[in-house]
Amino acid sequence: MIGDKKVLFSGMQATGNLTLGNYLGALKNWVTLCDEYECFYSVVDLHSITVRQDPSELRQRARKLLTLYIAAGLDPKKNCLYYQSHVSGHAELAWILNCFTYMGELNRMTQFKDKSAKHADNINAGLFTYPVLMAADILLYQADVVPVGKDQLQHLEITRDIAQRFNAIYGDVFTIPEPYLGKTGAKIMSLQDPDKKMSKSDENANASVYLMDDPDAIMRKFKRAVTDSEGCVRYCEEQPGIRNLMDIYGACTGKTSAEIEKEFDGKGYGDFKMAVGESVIAVLKPLQERFAELEKDKGYLDGIIKENAEKAEYYALKTLRKVQKKVGFPERVR
Ligand code: TYM
Repeated sequence: MIGDKKVLFSGMQATGNLTLGNYLGALKNWVTLCDEYECFYSVVDLHSITVRQDPSELRQRARKLLTLYIAAGLDPKKNCLYYQSHVSGHAELAWILNCFTYMGELNRMTQFKDKSAKHADNINAGLFTYPVLMAADILLYQADVVPVGKDQLQHLEITRDIAQRFNAIYGDVFTIPEPYLGKTGAKIMSLQDPDKKMSKSDENANASVYLMDDPDAIMRKFKRAVTDSEGCVRYCEEQPGIRNLMDIYGACTGKTSAEIEKEFDGKGYGDFKMAVGESVIAVLKPLQERFAELEKDKGYLDGIIKENAEKAEYYALKTLRKVQKKVGFPERVR
């Protein structure tokens, strides 16, 4: 708790271009939670270097992502928006937690298996211990809730296991976090292969809608989206492509699948795809406009980055010092 509020932590990687999946699965929900919780939203640049990055590109992307957090509606006075690399406690706690995590647990992580298949020439130890750093992110702020998309649930599970293991030895040190999944959009799939999640790193540019795509590109991608053979807009197992488009439309308009089925009763896929594209444009346009405005104001952003890093550091150190004491490190004399 901070004051009378429960704590929320989440983060995103500044790698690749953010997709509609990132927005509907995470960012959009974040904005709705900021009155209820004390929120920390990090740009997790330490996680990004588990895959090789161009340094100046990574720096630029990190800044853009932080700007995007604000453009999406996160007020930096109410939410702590900061770079993970500006708070050294993340890496320090991750080291300690590494010593409370088993190789077997990490071996089971599906994201590690996927990423090591994709980057076979660079299966580094950081890629393997990535979930421990994620646990450190969350536990450092004693987070009660962690809003994420479905693909991160396994990492949340291991975070809870590590925290419980640590607490069983040293007493109640960490709050055990709960995942928070949005009602809609928790798993947005590729527009070209609805069995795969929409991903920043997809090589097929038509598979993902990027948050900075212009209206023409968005419409084109939805027109080309893979659909099914039933010919009607119905939410069912046999129509994974249509189901995904219905999830997107529902998340953008707030309509339920029953309402969507009714709206498109008797209409074909073509009409429906147009409507989905338009609903996405309506959501992304204001975000893109705010982003362009904010990007111009360098001084404003720099101020936010400094203030929020100090705030994050203050809370991070509280937990870190407690943990260091518990595991037996000598007290600091300065
Ligand atoms: P990342 O950067 O891959 O994704 C950021 C958020 O977007 C969600 N997401 C999706 N949701 C729905 N449909 C999709 N297709 C989709 N693709 C991505 C993700 O679930 C995530 O919530 N390891 C994390 C970042 C991280 C983190 C943390 C998150 C580091 N430390 C601590 C929470 C708490 C990641 O790589 O997310």
